[in-house]
Amino acid sequence: MNILLLGSGGRECTFAWKIAQSPLCKKLFIAPGNAGTSDYGTNINIQATDFESVKKFVVESNISMVVVGPEDPLVNGIHDFFLNDDQLKNIQLVGPDKIGAQLEGSKDFSKRFMQKYGVPTAAYATFTATTINEGYEFLESLKPPYVLKADGLAAGKGVLIIDDLAIAKQELRSMLNENKFGEAGTTVVIEEFLDGIELSMFVLTDGTNYLILPEAKDYKRIGENDTGLNTGGMGAVSPVPFAGETFKQKVHDKIILPTINGLASEGIDYTGFIFIGLMNVNGEPFVIEYNVRMGDPETEVVIPRIKNDLVKLFLSLKDRTLNEHKIEIEDRTAVTVMLVSGGYPGDYTKGKTIYRLNEVTESLLFHAGTTKDNEEIVTAGGRVLAITSFGDKISDARDKSLRYAELVKFDGKYYRKDIGSDLIN
Ligand code: AMP
Ligand code: GLY
Repeated sequence: MNILLLGSGGRECTFAWKIAQSPLCKKLFIAPGNAGTSDYGTNINIQATDFESVKKFVVESNISMVVVGPEDPLVNGIHDFFLNDDQLKNIQLVGPDKIGAQLEGSKDFSKRFMQKYGVPTAAYATFTATTINEGYEFLESLKPPYVLKADGLAAGKGVLIIDDLAIAKQELRSMLNENKFGEAGTTVVIEEFLDGIELSMFVLTDGTNYLILPEAKDYKRIGENDTGLNTGGMGAVSPVPFAGETFKQKVHDKIILPTINGLASEGIDYTGFIFIGLMNVNGEPFVIEYNVRMGDPETEVVIPRIKNDLVKLFLSLKDRTLNEHKIEIEDRTAVTVMLVSGGYPGDYTKGKTIYRLNEVTESLLFHAGTTKDNEEIVTAGGRVLAITSFGDKISDARDKSLRYAELVKFDGKYYRKDIGSDLIN
C-alpha cells in the first residue's frame, strides 16, 4: 500500500525509517519531510496543514493510509476533513478527530476531561478577560511557584512558571488583556505547581483497545543540568529507570484506563497516539498534559525500541483489532542526543553545510531541521539532527551518541553532553 506521512521533524524521520521497513508499505511519501526522510521515501512539497493539497495528492497517488506526525493538522480537523469528503472517507488517517485533538488543543478541555474522569492532575481554575479579578484571587490562594497556561496551542511556549505573585498577576493581565499569546491565550488555565520528576508515557489506541508503548524522559532545557531556556527537546532516554512496574501499573489504572474509557463515554472516536506528560510526585503519577501525537525527541527513542511492524499496528486501528497484537519491546536502553543550531532556542542562522553524516554507521541518525541545497545537506531549523544509540546501560548508549555528535560537523553546532546523567546513580 502507499502511505503518506505528514510532518518534517526528527519524529517524522523516525516514523519514515520505521514505516519503510514494513513489507506492507509499497511507496512512502513524506509531506514536506526533510533531507533525511528522502532516504526512506519521496518528499513532496506540501504543508501538513494544507488540506486541499493533501487531498489532491492522496487521490492522485493512490494513498491508502495517512499518518499525521504533528498536532496542528489534527487540531485543525484533518481527520474530520477526510471523514466528510466522499473521495477521502475510506482512506485511513492515523490520528484523532478535531474533538479528540482538543485534549492537546485546549488546556481547559483537557483539565475538565481529567476532572470528570478522575484522572489525577494538578488542581486548577480557568479564567478569561471578564473573570480576571477572580484570577488574581485564585493566584493569591495558591502557594508559589504559579503555573499559568495559555489555553490554546502556543508552539510549546504557552506555559509560564513564576515565583513571584506580583509578576504572576502581571503575566495573567498580559495574557488576558494584552494578547501576549494571541488567540491561544484569551483563556488561561492557572494550576497548582507539582513538585516531582517528569516522564512521558505513550499509548496507541483504536478507540477501544490500546497498546502501551515504551516510556521516555526528555530534556527540555538548552543547558546542561537542566538550565537555561526551554527548547523543543535536547535529547531523550527510554526506558526510564524510575518508572518501575508499580509506578507503571498506577499510570495504567489511574490514568490510561480512565482516559480511554472517558474518551469512549464522551462519544469521542479516538484513533492514534496519546502522549501523556506525567509528573512523578513521590511515586504517584499526575498528568501534566495530554498530547495527541508522539513526542519529539521521544519518538527517536520510543519507536526504535518497538520491534513490531508499525504499519500492521496502524492497520489494526482501522478494523479495531489492536487487541490482537502484543507490543514487542527491545530491552536495551535507547538514548538520543539532539544536535542544534548555535543560538537556538533564540535566533539562529540556517543554511550551514553539514559534514560527515555518512560516517554515522553504528547509530541511528534522524534528521530534524535539514534540507538539501543542490548536493549538500544544510541546516534548516533549530533542532538539526537526532542521533540515537542503544546500550545495555544509559551511559553506554549516551556515549555512543556523543561520539557521533562530536564527529558530525556544522557551523555553530551545539548539543548537551549530559542526557540521562540524572538517571545514572
Ligand atoms: P506543558 O506545555 O503543559 O507540557 O508544560 C510545559 C512544562 O511546564 C512541563 O513540561 C512541565 O515541566 C512544566 N509544568 C506544566 N505544568 C506544571 C505543573 N502543574 N507543575 C509543575 N510543572 C509544570
Ligand atoms: N518533547 C515534547 C513534545 O514533543 O511535546
